Amino acid sequence: MVNTDNIRQRILSLKSEKNALILAHYYQPLEVQDMADHVCDSFEMAKRARDAEQQIIVICGVVFMGESAKILNPGKKILIPVMEAGCPMADMVTPEDVINLRKKHPDAAVVCYVNSSAAVKAVSDICCTSSSVLRIVRSLPEKKIIFIPDRNLGAYVARQVPEKEIILFDGFCPTHNRVTESDALRAKEAHPDSVFAAHPECRQEVLAHADFIGSTSEIINYAHNSEKKTIIIGTEQGIVERLRRELPDKNIYSVAASFVCPNMKKTNLPELLNCLENEQTEIKLTDEEIAAAKQSLDRMVSI
Ligand code: 13P
Ligand code: SF4
Repeated sequence: MVNTDNIRQRILSLKSEKNALILAHYYQPLEVQDMADHVCDSFEMAKRARDAEQQIIVICGVVFMGESAKILNPGKKILIPVMEAGCPMADMVTPEDVINLRKKHPDAAVVCYVNSSAAVKAVSDICCTSSSVLRIVRSLPEKKIIFIPDRNLGAYVARQVPEKEIILFDGFCPTHNRVTESDALRAKEAHPDSVFAAHPECRQEVLAHADFIGSTSEIINYAHNSEKKTIIIGTEQGIVERLRRELPDKNIYSVAASFVCPNMKKTNLPELLNCLENEQTEIKLTDEEIAAAKQSLDRMVSI
C-alpha cells in the first residue's frame, strides 16, 4: 500500500530543497491543493506565475495554465505533473478559426478566454479569465467583440454588457455544459432555503436560476459571506469539497452528480512527487511562440 504521509513529506522536502513554487487550481484534488503554496483561480494563478521569483514553478492544473505561466515568466522552469491533462474546450478553437472570424468582422476586437492554446492567444488581441472578462470587455474601445472559445461565457458577457455586440464561437466546457436546467431545478427543489452559485461556463438556462454567478474564487468568497446556511454549487467538485471542509457549519451541495473535470483529476500525489523529483514534465515553448502570445496575456494581467 502507498504511504501517502510519506509521499507528502517527500513532496514538501523536495519543494523546499529545490525552492520550487507550487500553484494549484481549485479544481485539483484536495490532497494536491494541500501541497500548494497558493490555490488559485485562473487569473490569480497567471499573476502569481508572472511575479514568481523561484526558478521552478509547478503548475497543478491543465496544460494551458502551464503555457500561460511560461509565456508570462519565460525564464523559469515551468513543470506540470501530467502533460496529458489538457482542456477539451481549449482544443475546440484553432488559429485559423480566429483568422477567418477576423476576416468576417474586421472592426472587431478578439477576446480570448485563457482556456486556449498559445497559438490561439497569439492571434487574439487580449485574454481574459472568468473573473476578469467583464472588466476587460468593458475596457475595450471596440463595440464589436469576437469572443472565443466558450459560447456560454460569451453569452453571459453579452447579457452583462449589452452595449457591446458579442460574436460567439461554438466552444464549451464539457464538464460545465453537461449540467442541465432540470439539474438546477431539482437541486433547488431538494434544498428550498438555499442559494445557488454558478460558474459562467454553465449554460444560460442554468445560470438563469443562479443567485450568484462568478469565477471559482468568487464562488468561494460568496459561499463564505452568504448568510444562507445551504449553498448549491454550480461548478467543479474541487470547490464543493473545499467548501465542505472550510465551512463545516454550512450545507454545501453540488448542483449535479459527478460535476467533475476528468483532466483536472489526472494530477495526484505520486504524479506531483515524480514531477518534483525528476523535474518532469517541463512546458516548452519556442521564443517565437512566447513572443507571439505574450501581448494578449500581458494585457490581461495588467488590466
Ligand atoms: P476560473 O478559476 O478562472 O474560474 O476557471 C475555471 C476553469 O474552468 C478553469 O479551467
Ligand atoms: Fe477545461 Fe472545463 Fe476542465 Fe476547466 S473544467 S479545465 S474548462 S474541461
